[in-house]
Amino acid sequence: MRNKIVAGNWKMNKTFPEAEELLNELYEALESVELGSVQVILCVPFPYLELAVDFADDSSFMVGAQNVHDHDSGAYTGEVSAAMLKSLGVDFSIIGHSERRKYFNESHAFLKSKVDTALKHGLGPIFCCGEVLPEREAGKHFDVVKSQLEESLFHLTPENFRQAIIAYEPVWAIGTGVNATPEQAQEMHAAIRSWIREKYGEEIAADTSILYGGSCNATNAKELFSQTDVDGGLIGGASLKGEEFLQIIKAALLPFAAL
Ligand code: PGA
Repeated sequence: MRNKIVAGNWKMNKTFPEAEELLNELYEALESVELGSVQVILCVPFPYLELAVDFADDSSFMVGAQNVHDHDSGAYTGEVSAAMLKSLGVDFSIIGHSERRKYFNESHAFLKSKVDTALKHGLGPIFCCGEVLPEREAGKHFDVVKSQLEESLFHLTPENFRQAIIAYEPVWAIGTGVNATPEQAQEMHAAIRSWIREKYGEEIAADTSILYGGSCNATNAKELFSQTDVDGGLIGGASLKGEEFLQIIKAALLPFAAL
């Protein structure tokens, strides 16, 4: 059965001393939390990955990058390869975040290639999908998300697909303070799981973690995570504050009945 996952996406935030302070705070706080089957993944900026892995070695969280290049190695100035990340002890990379799709023009084909390269080197993709507001208003959100998955993820073999985590992040909810309602999240997550079922069968559909992202915080996490098909969250702004991020982790620990 799938895990609940709380992943923090720090984006381009924090200086080195600030990163060290937050990692230390989370490290100390997680010592007294029994995570059970809940997985915590910190996706920190590249320069802090090694430090995060050092903390993670002794702790219950795992480390992810926020991006990875689609080539194995070579003359790609400024880029970071999957092999480099893996050799540091990084286990995941976010791929297909809407900010990368928008500001860096990352296409479906490029994301597909990144997914393949990440998996080839043993990095688990945290694959983001989600519609922009005009697409939702036009009633096209299901088509948009389905095609994002079909174009960049559904070519995988069942064995490789099992390594992927999906994050549904409606773009209109990211960083805006306006989260999707639990019903809106559940509806899309259920649709995503049904497409996975059609493509890969019941067992893989039931085992795939589908995270919600977009203004998820300590106040709304419990309700969002209690939805049947919402298996945790990809947390941006609220992952930058230790105490709030811990509250979100604790929301993922709660059984449905405890709400
Ligand atoms: P947010 O970002 O939680 O700040 O809305 C989520 C994300 O972009 O992953």
